[in-house]
Amino acid sequence: MGDPFDRLLARVPARGIKARRPSITISYAQSLDGSIASASGKPLSLSSQESLEMTHRLRAAHDAILVGIGTVLADNPQLTVRHANGEHPQPIILDTYLRTPNDASVLEHPRPPIFATGHTPNQARTEEIEQAGGRVLSLQTRADGLIELPALVERLGQIGVTSVMVEGGTRVISSFLRDQLADCMVITISPSLVGGRHAVKDLPQDSMPRLGEPEWVAFGPDLVVWGDVEW
Ligand SMILES: NC(=O)c1ccc[n+]([C@@H]2O[C@H](COP(=O)([O-])OP(=O)(O)OC[C@H]3O[C@@H](n4cnc5c(N)ncnc54)[C@H](OP(=O)(O)O)[C@@H]3O)[C@@H](O)[C@H]2O)c1
Repeated sequence: MGDPFDRLLARVPARGIKARRPSITISYAQSLDGSIASASGKPLSLSSQESLEMTHRLRAAHDAILVGIGTVLADNPQLTVRHANGEHPQPIILDTYLRTPNDASVLEHPRPPIFATGHTPNQARTEEIEQAGGRVLSLQTRADGLIELPALVERLGQIGVTSVMVEGGTRVISSFLRDQLADCMVITISPSLVGGRHAVKDLPQDSMPRLGEPEWVAFGPDLVVWGDVEW
């Protein structure tokens, strides 16, 4: 059987590399009732040490790791691979209005984080972010003001990013699914009940995917399920 992570890795980042865009893996941890965050939005630790190490190995297997500003504000994540060996992925934050605080942990990341922002970013704020160690990538926005994800992934492909791990939160995961931009999903299921906020919301019926050729394995007390995203 070998190391289950090797089986996971064989399926995940290399798969789905489409012409001119990186492959996209969506990965998150949820409770048995499907919650990825507490109802109050307060930080919630769902992963066991074993699944946390798996997640960090998975991060190291991707070129880039992407989260939304909602996750930065709620959890202040480091987005490193400190629980595994390997290279830190390039952090990317979807942050249309550059609301990331100057003391956010991601600004201490060994690789300068990329802040994907709207097409008219505030100049003073841009300079502050750059002085704090970030890079600002200005992109088109959708009619609802959020960043155009197809334009983002195309730009990432142009700058040499071949794989992106999307870790959340709800709005970001839902947007990648709505735009049918996910190739694989890796979901850690913790044996707990939370009664909180779910990973996916407001998806039109025709954007509801399922996992093709799913596999699952226990990492400590958690169940990790992965597979190709199929619509
Ligand atoms: N359990 C897990 O694995 C896990 C992982 C990550 C996060 N979380 C949880 O998820 C929660 C945060 O989720 P969230 O939904 O509030 O925030 P989020 O998905 O992290 O960030 C959403 C924000 O990103 C910006 N954004 C820009 N372009 C976007 C686009 N095309 N699509 C979606 N968002 C875009 C928007 O803010 P602007 O308009 O200001 O740019 C949007 O409000 C936290 O409670 C966190 O703990 C859980």
